[in-house]
Amino acid sequence: PIPLYLDCDTGVDDAVAIAYLLGSPSINLVGIGTVSGNTSAAQAARNTLDLLALAGRDDIPVAVGAHDHLTSAFGGGAAHVHGDNGIGGAVLPHADREPDARSAVELLIELSHRYAGRLHVLTIGPMTNIALALAADPTLPSRVAGVTSMGGAALVPGNIRPAAEANIFNDPEAAEALLSADWDVTLVPLDVTMEHTLAEADRDRLAAAPAPLAAAVGAMLDHYLDFYVPIYGTRTSALHDPLAAVLATGAITPDRAPRVPVRVDTTDGPGRGQTIADLRGQRIATRDHEGVRTRVVLEVAAPVAEHLMGVLLG
Ligand code: BDR
Ligand code: CA
Repeated sequence: PIPLYLDCDTGVDDAVAIAYLLGSPSINLVGIGTVSGNTSAAQAARNTLDLLALAGRDDIPVAVGAHDHLTSAFGGGAAHVHGDNGIGGAVLPHADREPDARSAVELLIELSHRYAGRLHVLTIGPMTNIALALAADPTLPSRVAGVTSMGGAALVPGNIRPAAEANIFNDPEAAEALLSADWDVTLVPLDVTMEHTLAEADRDRLAAAPAPLAAAVGAMLDHYLDFYVPIYGTRTSALHDPLAAVLATGAITPDRAPRVPVRVDTTDGPGRGQTIADLRGQRIATRDHEGVRTRVVLEVAAPVAEHLMGVLLG
């Protein structure tokens, strides 16, 4: 299995992604770092520890990462989407352990040495920890086999701002650092994550599942589904972080993912946090730009929700 470091802001859809990763045979979750985003980095760590305890996986280190972003203070989170505690108000049994003594940056760098050349990094929150790790150790990319990141909006509107997706908007400078480092990045933007969804019936099946982790994820989704009613017209969950997790494991491969330069707007204007992917001239054919190591996922045809549910329900 691929050794995988996860960086997250747990988060309802982060929780779904974690549950999926725990059930995926093709990866080995070797460490988790948290960052402020949906909720604070500390609360995200608490949620993550509690989820891992439900799955009997207290062996996976969880390290608290950046509370504030590179150029701004943490803004308080997204309680209207993810509930006050980040996991839709769900109350999980309190895990019998505390976060790792290392910071998320220290954990990531250490894992990159232990699994040099094989470690995969998956980010499903703001990219602050990764930017800090790159600054602390510029040789990090040489030991990382690949990065998969949920974030951005290439050809579709943003969510948190007209042109910006939340993970990028919350730390545009960090996203720019991740995207300009010398490693292979798969960017999984709203273009595809809004196209793959869970329905109310899926939530009900999870909530009724005998496995405590699946049931907990089902309970969390209740609040999250409400947020999407004005967007989809029904109680439906976008699969932002779960889709990135599915692609990171290789269980499903994208149908269209050109390697093109992606820049992030780091100005203070209305475009702050926008991802600008150079997709000029790609109307009828998909073309990779020579030497570019970032691919932007624009199409995933496989039934992601079906695959995800299969893994979640075991
Ligand atoms: C992303 O922002 C967060 O709210 C979600 O967990 C996801 O990572 C979607 O824009
Ligand atoms: Ca997230």
